[in-house]
Parts: sequence; C-alpha cells; structure tokens
Amino acid sequence: MTGFFRQGPALVCDGVPLADLATAHGTPLYVYSAATIAARYHAIDQAFADYPHAIHYALKANSTLAIARLLRGLGSNADANSGGEIEVARRAGFTPSQIVFTGVGKTAAELDQAVALGVRSINAESAGEIERIGARARALQTRVKIALRINPDIDAKSHPHISTGLKTNKFGIALSDVPELCERVRAMPAVEVVGLHSHVGSQITEVEPLRRAAAALVQLARELRGRGTQIEHLDVGGGLGVSYDGRRVPDAAEYASAILPAVRESGLSVILEPGRQIVAPAGVLLTRVVDVKPQSAGKLFVIMDAGMTELIRPMLYGAFHRIEPVVRTAAPEIACDIVGPLCESSDTLGKDRIVPHPAVDELYAVLDVGAYGSVMASNYNRRLLPAEVLIEHGRASVIRRRQTLEDVLALEA
Ligand code: LLP
Repeated sequence: MTGFFRQGPALVCDGVPLADLATAHGTPLYVYSAATIAARYHAIDQAFADYPHAIHYALKANSTLAIARLLRGLGSNADANSGGEIEVARRAGFTPSQIVFTGVGKTAAELDQAVALGVRSINAESAGEIERIGARARALQTRVKIALRINPDIDAKSHPHISTGLKTNKFGIALSDVPELCERVRAMPAVEVVGLHSHVGSQITEVEPLRRAAAALVQLARELRGRGTQIEHLDVGGGLGVSYDGRRVPDAAEYASAILPAVRESGLSVILEPGRQIVAPAGVLLTRVVDVKPQSAGKLFVIMDAGMTELIRPMLYGAFHRIEPVVRTAAPEIACDIVGPLCESSDTLGKDRIVPHPAVDELYAVLDVGAYGSVMASNYNRRLLPAEVLIEHGRASVIRRRQTLEDVLALEA
C-alpha cells in the first residue's frame, strides 16, 4: 500500500511513520509521497494513452525542485507561470521544448527569457502581448511559437477565486476576437500560432465545463483552418478537482472520456496541464498542538504551530482539509476549532472538527495539501517557511530545509 494510511493507530506515509518524521525534522513539516505522485501521474497518462498527448505538469501547484525532477523522471513536461518557474523547470532538467509558458501578465523580462530559450509554446493572453512577443522575437532574431489562450466564457462552477473561464475574468482572448487576431499574426513573420489554449478554473468537480471548453477549442481550430491558420495542438489546461472530503469526483478516466471524443475528431495533439490532480493527495502538513483552551458551548480552541502562513487555502477559499491526529488516542471525542498561531481570526485551519480530546504537543496531520500548500506559504509575522520531506522507496529525504531567520533577514538593509 502506498500513500497516507494507518498502521494501527499511527498515520504513515508509504510505510514511514509520520510521528518519526516530525521528531526528526520538526514541525510544521510538509511530507510528500513519491509513490502517490507517480501513481496519479500514470493514471492521467494512461487515461489518454490511445491519443497523442503531452502532460505539462502545472508547476504552480508545487514546484519544489525534487518534485519537479520526480515528475520529469516520470515523463512529464512542464507548465510554467513565471520567469521563476521557467528557471525552476530548467534546473529540474526540463528542456525548453518541454516547457509551455502561461501567465496573464508576462513582463518584458519574462518574455525575453521565454523567447530566448525557445520554449515549446508561449500561451498568449492578449493582442497586446502578441505584439510584445513579436517585438522580442524580432529583436532576438528568432521565431516564436505561441498558443492563443481563449476565454470561452464557460462557468467552471468552482470557487469564484479560482474560476478563470468567464468573460468577466481577466484571462484569455474572447473567442470572437480570435479569427481576426490570427489574420494579424499571419502578417508577423516572427510569430507562429501553433496552438489554442484554455484553462477555465481549478478544483472543477464535474467534467461538463471541461468538456465544453475542449469542444470550443476544437470548433475554433476548425474555423481557423478554414481561414488558413493550421493549428498543431490544443492545450486544454488543468483544473480537474480532487476530493477533499470523501465526496465522489470524476477520475482521470472519466476526464479523458469527456475530453477525448471532441478532440479526437480534430486529429490535433493535446496538451494537458494538471497540477492539483497529481500532487494534492500526495502531501500532508504535520503540525503540533501548542495550546488547548475552552471556548463557548463546550467547544475547544486547539492552537497549532501551523496556520495561514503554512497553508492559506482554508482562509483564502474556505477550503476544507481533513485534519487528523497522527496517532489516534482513546480520548473522548470533542468539537474543536483548529486554529493557527497568527494574529488574525481568519487563521483557522478547520472549524467544528470532532477529534479525540487533543493535548499540548500532540501531532496532527492536515491532509491533501500537496498542491497549493507550500508554494503559497509566506513569512507573515516573521514566520519561517517550513521544511519539506519526500518519501521515496521507503526513505525520507529533506527536499527543502526549514528557512532560518538569517535567510529572511539576508534580504534586508
Ligand atoms: N494551467 C493554468 C493556465 C492554470 O492557471 C492552472 C492553475 C493550471 C493549469 C493547473 O490547474 P489545476 O490542475 O491545479 O487545477 N491556489 C488555488 C488554485 C489556483 C489555480 C491556478 N491555476 C488553490 O489553492 O485552490
């Protein structure tokens, strides 16, 4: 058995007791299962096996170098969302042709970086950006491949903060503007449109919006072909959700069955940009109880040594993450608000959770935090970024050491 499961009362990762890891490396601590990442990567790859496809793992979900390297080793390509992520991809060993570059506000420096490198495709967000890409390509005397990020005006029915496909969202180019834009690009010798791209949101828990977005790309590619622009690939983005609370969500196979029929008909190869789907269930955050105090109605506040600085998803999106004692005790169960140590009431990891009566120093795990956990951590309250450990073949390695105050202050005058 791989991943996170219980051996008796104790939660383990790929057979390694989480309690031992916390003792060895301290808390708060991110722990990842390499076997889970591999299994989830392969599930997507296999679901699309009978059709030409490339998985470009969305680095934004988790770009710790060792995780990026692990995915490269599995056969993945990369989706980078900033100059920093492009550089991380390079240092993780991805070649330029394995990188697509997305981002709603690419700076001149980032465009230079991507153009000079010769990435597989720059996913362009606007007519203005295409002009800037053309100018950079001319200056560097090279030719650039771009995909047009389409805004298909489709409701992903996810949290509003992570829905990106409506025309009221800042992302992409309106469908109706694309044909004319392609005519303009045809007159630009330094730029070639090779793909169409869409990403309508994240944590999408039904396949219908994803199917509709893919169908819109296929339809548009057909229309463009009729007007003389030959598209090579369709990039359907990421977005497939995971179950944080045990409710059923579509799996990789259902996702593929939703996307492929439309895409197959186009004959175009497909790029996928999954992030969360691969890494979310592959990570936990270990945190210790710092204090326990009574509140009204017989409930307790359980104050942990991790909060919004280590994991901001509950505060930012009202996201639910299971929170469990690492070693289950026989203490009677009690309702608790599990909160962080920061100076804000929003700093709540989980409200109204029923757990065995917690004790100071007890170790807890916040589950399914492999995606958008450590990457969104901050130094608020001068807190230090947590360490990260990867379990691979039953062995634990520190893949990011704990930040020190010296690291933080090194930037300051
Ligand atoms: N491609 C593009 C262009 C994206 O913007 C994203 C995510 C992905 C791929 C990967 O999406 P995924 O497969 O992971 O859903 N911080 C938020 C999620 C923001 C997602 C942003 N874009 C959270 O914690 O839920």
